[in-house]
Amino acid sequence: MAAVVELIEVSKSYRRGDELVHALRGVTFTLAGGEMVALVGPSGCGKSTTLNLVAGVDRPDSGAVVVAGADLATAGEAVLVRARRHSIGIVFQSFHLMPHLTVEENIALPLALDGGRDAARVLDLIRRVGLEHRRDHFPAQLSGGEQQRTAVARALVHRPAVVLADEPTGALDSASGAAVLRLMDDLRREEGSALLLATHDEAIAAAADRLIRMRDGAIEAL
Ligand SMILES: Nc1ncnc2c1ncn2[C@@H]1O[C@H](COP(=O)(O)OP(=O)(O)OP(=O)(O)O)[C@@H](O)[C@H]1O
Ligand SMILES: [Mg+2]
Repeated sequence: MAAVVELIEVSKSYRRGDELVHALRGVTFTLAGGEMVALVGPSGCGKSTTLNLVAGVDRPDSGAVVVAGADLATAGEAVLVRARRHSIGIVFQSFHLMPHLTVEENIALPLALDGGRDAARVLDLIRRVGLEHRRDHFPAQLSGGEQQRTAVARALVHRPAVVLADEPTGALDSASGAAVLRLMDDLRREEGSALLLATHDEAIAAAADRLIRMRDGAIEAL
């Protein structure tokens, strides 16, 4: 299958006081449609930085970040917004749920932002993440695991070409973690979305088609 994500010689540094932190040093990889790839490596190796660049949340200092045909490194704001709305689904490490919206409204948000709605799709995802009994609750009324499952459903609802997740099972016990993993796996098979997951979770790494192992901002082994 054609690549949905392609990173070419991507570098990114952050300034911390007088020090320049080289978060990524020439990272190159591709992700094909329908592939599940786990980004693994020690804390600080550059996993979240990589996800933020693919999400179009941040830009590299050099190199190309091509997502669904658009190079997000050089794209204008309109192209970035379009990519985020249509091509990308994100599960952030800290969920980023809207506090004043219910579970159901949070999950429907990506569709609403794009001027659409699909109540059947939203309900199907609510069922699949096991939150029927929580659909009218607000994030503050949910456990960490329930918030995480809401965030996963929201990332998948608009059938993005690529789903990015930063420690998607970090707040879950192993049974809920396995359920979330199964859901993401089912949906990528049904819909051909590619999954790129940063994780320390051995179960996710074992379920992935492929691992990208990082160390000190570089890819150690493909
Ligand atoms: N906004 C920032 N400002 C300064 N340094 C940063 C910033 N974001 C990341 N870094 C640094 O870049 C490096 C890579 O960080 P990153 O968050 O990508 O690591 P990670 O692999 O996701 O780690 P973890 O497993 O702990 O989540 C680290 O040294 C980190 O301190
Ligand atoms: Mg991280």
